Amino acid sequence: MRRRTPRARPGDGRRYNPATVRALYPGSFDPVTLGHVDVIARGAALFDECWIGIGRNGAKQPSFTLEERRAQLEAVVADLKVRARVVTFDGLVVDFARKNQIGCLLRGLRSSQDFDYELPMAQLNRKLAPAIETAFVVPTPEHAFISANLVREAGRHGATLRGLVPECIRAKVEERLREAGASGSGSRSDNQSKGGGRGG
Ligand code: PNS
Repeated sequence: MRRRTPRARPGDGRRYNPATVRALYPGSFDPVTLGHVDVIARGAALFDECWIGIGRNGAKQPSFTLEERRAQLEAVVADLKVRARVVTFDGLVVDFARKNQIGCLLRGLRSSQDFDYELPMAQLNRKLAPAIETAFVVPTPEHAFISANLVREAGRHGATLRGLVPECIRAKVEERLREAGASGSGSRSDNQSKGGGRGG
């Protein structure tokens, strides 16, 4: 986060790097929702640099390809007119962060259920990479119920995704999910994703 005063030391006595803070918002973004957009806008406002990283959640088989998700995020960033960079990564998020001088991981917290999923992950990430912080932002209540899981489910049944995904990508996302619903594909990923994450 932007600070003008000298940086305090956390409880373990480590010094924060006083240089600009580059944050990474990692996620599956399958697909990008208005909840994600909320976090991206807050991250871009809070940090000197905000990177959005499409990672692999080992417990989930994505419905949208990496290229589709990257294109969705690029469109959203252009539409929001924020300074943010879209990247993809494989392997551990902390390894990618270390290699790219990322000082902070950013995640959104919608509920206590998210918290139960996020806290152990943040603690494990700290164990693996003590110099990298995790920061959480809380989305606006209108977006708090939105999850990529629910969006996929509604979209496969042909529901409108207005108010759930950004308008700039809505038509494409609706079309892709409607096709997946009609062909019966994608149900496997739903089953796999249960308990394998927090629902995006
Ligand atoms: O949107 P999601 O599915 O909650 O995102 C999860 C993601 C991709 C951020 C998380 O699974 C991740 O960071 N995966 C990379 C592997 C990793 O570092 N896992 C956390 C510590 S084992």
